[in-house]
Amino acid sequence: MGLRKTTAVVTGAGSGIGRATALLFATAGANVVCADISGAEATAEAIRVVGGIASSIVLDVRRQSDWAQLVEQATGEYGGIDVLASVAGVVAPATDTAVDQDEDGWQRIIDVDLKGVWLGMRAVIPGMLTAGGGRIVNVASMAGLIGLPNLAAYSAAKGGVISLSRQTAIQYAAKNVLVNVIAPGIIETPILGDIPDDMRVTLKSATPLGRMGRPEEIASMIVHLAGAGGSFITGQVFAVDGGWTAQ
Ligand SMILES: NC(=O)c1ccc[n+]([C@@H]2O[C@H](COP(=O)([O-])OP(=O)(O)OC[C@H]3O[C@@H](n4cnc5c(N)ncnc54)[C@H](O)[C@@H]3O)[C@@H](O)[C@H]2O)c1
Repeated sequence: MGLRKTTAVVTGAGSGIGRATALLFATAGANVVCADISGAEATAEAIRVVGGIASSIVLDVRRQSDWAQLVEQATGEYGGIDVLASVAGVVAPATDTAVDQDEDGWQRIIDVDLKGVWLGMRAVIPGMLTAGGGRIVNVASMAGLIGLPNLAAYSAAKGGVISLSRQTAIQYAAKNVLVNVIAPGIIETPILGDIPDDMRVTLKSATPLGRMGRPEEIASMIVHLAGAGGSFITGQVFAVDGGWTAQ
C-alpha cells in the first residue's frame, strides 16, 4: 500500500500493459484514473469490485481538450494528479516501412504515440509544479532504441518519446517532477494482433529469456518508478525486454 493518497492517471488503461498498470497502482493503494479511447471503465470497475479506488474517462490522447477534461475530472475527484503513466499506443506493422508507409498512417502513429505523450505531460506538469512535484512514466519501445523491421513511423515516434522525456526530465528536475521511460520488448498483449505461430516462435527465440513478457512485468517497473524506489531516478530509459537490446 505504498501509494496510498497518491493519484495516478494511466492512459491505455483499457487493455494490455495499461490495464495491468492501472490494476497494480490500485493494489499499491493509489487512486487510479483509468483513461482510454475505449475500455477504461471496465478496468476501473475491476478495481472497484476488489475494493480499490478508481474512476474512468474516455480520452483520445491526441486531443488537447480531452486532456483538459481529464485534469479537471481528476482534480475534482482526488484533488490533483501525482503520477502520469502514458501507456496508450498504436502500431501498424503491415505497411510501416520508409517506402510503404503513407502520410495518413505516418501522421496517425506520430499523433498517438508521440504527440499524445507530449500533450499528457503538457496537461499534468503545471499541477505538479504547483503541488511541489510529480512522477511521469512514458512507455516507448525497444523500437525507439534499435532498428526493427516494419516499424518505421513507430520507431520515429518511440525514439521521439525517449528524447522528449529526457529533455522534460532535465527541464523540470529542479522542480521535483521526475520523468522516465520504459522501453518494452515483446509483450503478450492485443497490440501484437494475430501473429502466426512461426512468428511467435521467432520472437521468443530472439528474446534471450526465451519468452514474451507479461503486461504485469512492465506494470511493476512503472509502479516502482512512481513510488519510493524511484525517488532519485529521472531522465532514464529502462529496457524491460527479456534481454533483447543487450545482444
Ligand atoms: N506489447 C508489446 O509488445 C509492446 C512492445 C513495446 C512497446 N509497447 C507499447 O506499450 C504500450 C501499450 O501497448 P499494449 O501492448 O498494452 O497494447 P494494447 O493494444 O493492448 O493497448 C493499447 C491501448 O491504447 C489505447 N489507445 C490507442 N489509441 C489511443 C488514443 N488515441 N487515445 C487513447 N488511448 C488509445 C487502446 O485503446 C488500447 O487500450 C503502447 O504504447 C505500445 O506501443 C508494447
